[in-house]
Amino acid sequence: MTEIEIRREVTARPEPDYAGQTWSEEGIKSQQHRRYVGGLWEELGKLQVDFLAEQGLRPHHQFIDVGCGSLRAGRLLVDYLEPRHYYGIDINVDVMKAGYDHELTDEQRSRLPLVNLRCTDRFDADFGHPFDMAIAQSVFTHLSLNNIRLCLFRLAKVMKPGAKFFATFFEEAAGVPLDTVKKGERFTERNVFWYYRSDLRWASRLSPWEFNYIGDWGHPRGQRMLEFTRKADG
Ligand SMILES: C[S@@+](CC[C@H](N)C(=O)[O-])C[C@H]1O[C@@H](n2cnc3c(N)ncnc32)[C@H](O)[C@@H]1O
Repeated sequence: MTEIEIRREVTARPEPDYAGQTWSEEGIKSQQHRRYVGGLWEELGKLQVDFLAEQGLRPHHQFIDVGCGSLRAGRLLVDYLEPRHYYGIDINVDVMKAGYDHELTDEQRSRLPLVNLRCTDRFDADFGHPFDMAIAQSVFTHLSLNNIRLCLFRLAKVMKPGAKFFATFFEEAAGVPLDTVKKGERFTERNVFWYYRSDLRWASRLSPWEFNYIGDWGHPRGQRMLEFTRKADG
């Protein structure tokens, strides 16, 4: 009999299938599309809009929400921005449909044409014109470092020189060992991911971004905020 030692540190569990998740009408009625994006529906929507306005978002700006989900922030941004100035992309088409159909009023839907929303598996954010500002809230927490650098690479192509892209992440201090498992089952190599600040600085250097660490922005679960500014060249 062949005996090979097995060492498993992590309870087997599948990686979340973000692209494949769907909901029945019943599921939507019981607000599963809100839970999918993490709950805290009112709080996390308002936190984002207040933060973005403080950072200089103005109604005439062209704005893109990366990993927009069920429009937790989107529904407020649609009111704040001029009609047709809010754009959203996500890997899951159903979550966007649920947000569009169930979280917006008719008036809001008239301000947000469906062509401003897109399901994309590789951060295709090219809507034919450049953006002034962007956010990815609680998205890098679910992306591998390879996907983060792809996201930054693609976003850089559609942002105006000087435009800001804000992104949140779970941070671990530089001296903490790479194989640490954080409370709440967070790993650096699997979803939900944590990162060192230097990981994200490194990822940003592969595309034309200035990296700036903002840090605490009042996120109820401790996600930290980063600011990437699109360089004029590159
Ligand atoms: C925690 S939710 C946050 C949603 C939204 N940003 C908010 O604050 O309400 C994460 C979102 O990222 C999306 N997502 C995960 N992986 C993605 C990918 N590779 N590309 C685009 N969206 C992705 C998920 O479908 C989900 O809607």
